[in-house]
Amino acid sequence: MVTVGAVGGGDPEPEGAHAPVSGGQSQITTVDPHGVHQAGTHRPLTPPTHLSLHVFESERSALSAADLAATLTELGTVISALTMPEPRHERLSAPPVDLTVQVGVGPRVVAAAGLTLDVRLPEFAGSDAIPARLRRGDLIISVAARHPEISVQASDVVAELLTAAGFTPSWSQLGFRPQGEGTIAANPLGFDDGIVQPATAGGVPEHVYLDEGPAKNGTIGVIRRFVLDTAAFARLDRDQQEHVFGRDKATGAPLSGGTRDTDVNLGTKTATGEYLVPAGSHVRAAHPSFTGSTLMLRRSYGYRESVDGRLDRSGLLFISFQDDLEVFSRTQSRMDREDRLMEFATATAEVAFLVLPGFDAERPLGSTLFR
Ligand code: HEM
Repeated sequence: MVTVGAVGGGDPEPEGAHAPVSGGQSQITTVDPHGVHQAGTHRPLTPPTHLSLHVFESERSALSAADLAATLTELGTVISALTMPEPRHERLSAPPVDLTVQVGVGPRVVAAAGLTLDVRLPEFAGSDAIPARLRRGDLIISVAARHPEISVQASDVVAELLTAAGFTPSWSQLGFRPQGEGTIAANPLGFDDGIVQPATAGGVPEHVYLDEGPAKNGTIGVIRRFVLDTAAFARLDRDQQEHVFGRDKATGAPLSGGTRDTDVNLGTKTATGEYLVPAGSHVRAAHPSFTGSTLMLRRSYGYRESVDGRLDRSGLLFISFQDDLEVFSRTQSRMDREDRLMEFATATAEVAFLVLPGFDAERPLGSTLFR
């Protein structure tokens, strides 16, 4: 068994290690839930293939700091038990391979902790068509695992704890992604996603985690669920599809040239004066140079929705982490104005939240916010 605790060259934070699991499988990996940062943002580096996302809200008009402290502490204890390879949690039918349970808190919880941090999404194009219930959340739980049954079994345990504590499920989504390379995997439109990512220093991505205050080592998460018009996109020929993204479909390389790892060159033009990475392409619209932003860490999942008697719908559960909500908001606003990809994408749910700082046996989950 290998315990995954690091990006690339090694995360210096003391993540601890789980004891090896004896038994048949050669590559059983588990992820230590404890550490400076919660698992599920940059570790494991390669996102597990299955995601079970659940957004909960409290019907109480005022949230009590004491109640929140107690619920988060209990949640942390349950997460430690669920992710332990041995003894295996009684509700899991197999080892918790790559299991991470990440906890985020919405604007009302942030306010109850007395923080002035901005985790409230502004309105984007189409936000007004999303029911209010799908635009808010008090607790945001992302459960990821290699095996689908483990992600849902673990999220059932968490959901039972939270409903007993007075929270109500408001929306949820199962997601999946191919086994990628690091953060990169093909998305439901068939293009490699997750290529451009923040630089890492000592294994920790830069400009992702907050570096001061009670939320230090937390991060601002954003999730937007987009239905994708895969049929309309498939009707474009290959060149047109590549113009929507600004990248080569087969290799992932930017249309300005090079390989998948080459930086996008936004200045290069054809002999007739058109940009090689076209105006209106996604990588041009989302490029941080136009918004004066740092890079967000993207960790999205595809999903499929089966509705009896109708054609299934595919979509993307876009997920990003950054140290400032503005990084996301400025990018999304620019995409709303400039990005042809948005012609194929309709947002159906959205939420921003603070991913709580990491925890361990001595520092319960949420304890830096609710002392
Ligand atoms: C609607 C569904 C979306 C799809 C299918 C999609 C897909 C992609 C793909 C294929 C790339 C190029 C490869 C890469 O660098 O990862 C990319 C880049 C990027 N996307 Fe998206 N994306 C979507 C939505 C968003 C949203 C909502 C944002 C943020 C508001 C965003 C931000 C970015 C950024 C910052 C880049 C890197 C741009 C660069 O510096 O080259 N994307 N996306």
